[in-house]
Amino acid sequence: MEVQQIWETVKEAIVAYTGLAPATFFTLVALLFAVYYVVSVMFGSPAYEDYRRHGERDMEEEQMPPLKPPVQIGEVTEEELKAYDGTDPEKPLLMAIKGQIYDVSQSRMFYGPGGPYALFAGKDASRALAKMSFEDKDLTGDISGLGPFEIEALQDWEYKFMTKYVKVGTIKQTARDLDVDSKPTEAAHSETPSHVDAHKDE
Ligand code: HEM
Repeated sequence: MEVQQIWETVKEAIVAYTGLAPATFFTLVALLFAVYYVVSVMFGSPAYEDYRRHGERDMEEEQMPPLKPPVQIGEVTEEELKAYDGTDPEKPLLMAIKGQIYDVSQSRMFYGPGGPYALFAGKDASRALAKMSFEDKDLTGDISGLGPFEIEALQDWEYKFMTKYVKVGTIKQTARDLDVDSKPTEAAHSETPSHVDAHKDE
């Protein structure tokens, strides 16, 4: 009963102060809220914008320190490439596919220390990518003896890297690479031989 009385008083007050029927008054109030909501969504409430921007900035700063623009390093050996595995934060994070070196610093969460693909960083990971393998023995640019599906998989990876990352250099062939490739046994069972030959068409 108490509630009923309050409601009656409110209705009387509405009529007395606004001269409007209670139903009209509440419709107007609802409309005002609707308009306020639409306007604040369209123009963005400053408080919300501020909060959002701040949030974004925090996330960027925490997860990714400002990225340095990719720097060309020219020809380096697989050995020299190891220095770019992300352990030195001053150096770019590099990874190679088919002898082509890409700056993957933007994907530090994948390739940086502790990342799921950190084992590929600072290496030519062609063989591992072609075979979808994480084994140590496959962490090499030697793609001799791969099957057609593996070659195709590698091609897809290369395409992904070419379109996503900046190429900053190439792997220099060492005497050891050339020596291995010239072995008759290697040549005999490799149709698309090592990365040395794969370079020729680039
Ligand atoms: C259970 C198996 C696997 C799962 C669930 C998985 C999942 C993923 C996911 C979610 C991403 C992120 C994709 C993106 O945001 O662009 C990714 C990226 C990647 N994955 Fe895997 N992955 C698996 C196996 C493998 C294997 C076997 C390899 C190679 C040996 C591999 C190599 C990579 C590489 C290189 C990237 C990063 C590509 C880039 O730089 O954009 N993954 N994977």
